[in-house]
Order: sequence, then C-alpha cells, then structure tokens
Amino acid sequence: MKGVVLAGGLGTRLRPLTSITNKHLLPVYDRPMIFYPLQTLADAGIKDVMVVTGGNSAGSFMHLLGDGKQFGFHSLNYAYQTGEGGIAQAIGLAKAFVGNEKFVVILGDNILENSIAKFVDSFKEQVSGARILYKEVADPRDYGVAEIIQGKVVSIVEKPKNPKSNYAVIGVYMFDNKAFDIIKELLPSGRGELEVTDLNNAYIHKGEMQADQITGWWSDCGASIDNLLEANNRAAEIRKGI
Ligand code: G1P
Repeated sequence: MKGVVLAGGLGTRLRPLTSITNKHLLPVYDRPMIFYPLQTLADAGIKDVMVVTGGNSAGSFMHLLGDGKQFGFHSLNYAYQTGEGGIAQAIGLAKAFVGNEKFVVILGDNILENSIAKFVDSFKEQVSGARILYKEVADPRDYGVAEIIQGKVVSIVEKPKNPKSNYAVIGVYMFDNKAFDIIKELLPSGRGELEVTDLNNAYIHKGEMQADQITGWWSDCGASIDNLLEANNRAAEIRKGI
C-alpha cells in the first residue's frame, strides 16, 4: 500500500501567514504541519510515500523531509503540481508512483488524534473500490458532507449550504487503481478544480465505496486561522498527555 500526502495550494485562507511560505510548513505546536499526516501514514504501516506540492516553497519540503527516514519510510518521493488544479488533479500526479497498487491519500493539513491503521487494514482486505473516513461535527458546511443510509454512503456534497447530515468527510481517502482512470474523466467544478468529492461520488455510483466513522479529535487545520489555533492548542495538550 502506497501513501500520498497532498501539500499544494495557495493557502489563501491563512494569509498573510502563507504569503511567503506553504501552509503545510507552518508550525502546529512543536513541528511543521506536514509532520502530522506523514506520522499518520507511518503509524498505519505505510512505507513508500509521495508528497505532492507546488508553488515557490516546493524545495523546502525536500530540505525539511529529505529521504523520509525520520518517519521510517523506505522511500519518500516528490511530485510538483503546477497551478491550482484541485485535490483530484494532485492525486493524478501520483499515478506512476502508485503503479498497480492500492493507495492511501491524506491531505497535508489534516491532523488526527487516533491511528487510521485499522481502516487501512480493512481496505487491504477490500477487493476493490474506495474507502473514506468521516466524523460527526457540529457544523459540516466547510467540508464534503456524506449522506449515509443504513451505514452506506449514498452521496457526498462538497461544502453544502444546507447539509443533509453532520458527517464531514475527512481528508483521508483510500483508492484502488481505477481512481486514475476516473480522474481523467472528471470535469472542473465551479471553482475550476478537479474535486476529490467528484472522484468519491464516481465510486459511490459504481457501488464501490466503503466508509468508516473515526473516533477522537480531527482537524482540517488549514481551513481557517481559528482551526490552526485550535490545532496548536490540542496538539500541545495531546503531546503533554493532558
Ligand atoms: C477538502 C475536501 C473536503 C474535505 C476536506 C477535509 O476541503 O474538498 O471534501 O471534507 O478537505 O479536510 P478543503 O479543506 O481543501 O477546502
């Protein structure tokens, strides 16, 4: 199982912090943001990882992360995303790296308190298709929102004004190799990007999507300054065992 961390984008919601650097290099308590998703992959037993980034700070990722040995990876690979093509386009850049394997994608600003190992293990057992993770939140309007009927995800709507549930789809996605063919067929959304929600909905329509509800604290800490502040405070408490 390969791992892909997405660390591109302009980070406009965190300006001016991101005016001169990439969002995923910003500190969250005592380490750069991207360390958290990398550690999440490492804790799930993933050994070969690709970081997809872009923009002017792309070189800083190699400087910071090197060959990935500090996370116990066998290999750490890098891809460069030109422009703002969206999450699904960034996933497409990992095609050659992933080869014929299944893979786990994590967004570089998603921090999870608990391990995803058991979900990755379930996906290893899954013959084909995709698997997403979700969490119940008070206000899901900033996220992809899953409509779930009898444990099955029937649709995901990206940042709906009137959400059908409180289930936020978190930034951890597991795909089989068909993802790359689906991405080729996706059309840009209203904001001009290839959306991961459209990729996930394609799997839902084929009846090939599984989903698990996560426990513990989760943050999309790049979504707002307040999320980033909260993530810093929670990361400190977790590190100190509070
Ligand atoms: C992205 C996805 C969204 C998902 C979220 C999780 O949103 O588009 O579906 O719920 O990540 O972090 P973004 O935060 O990039 O706007």
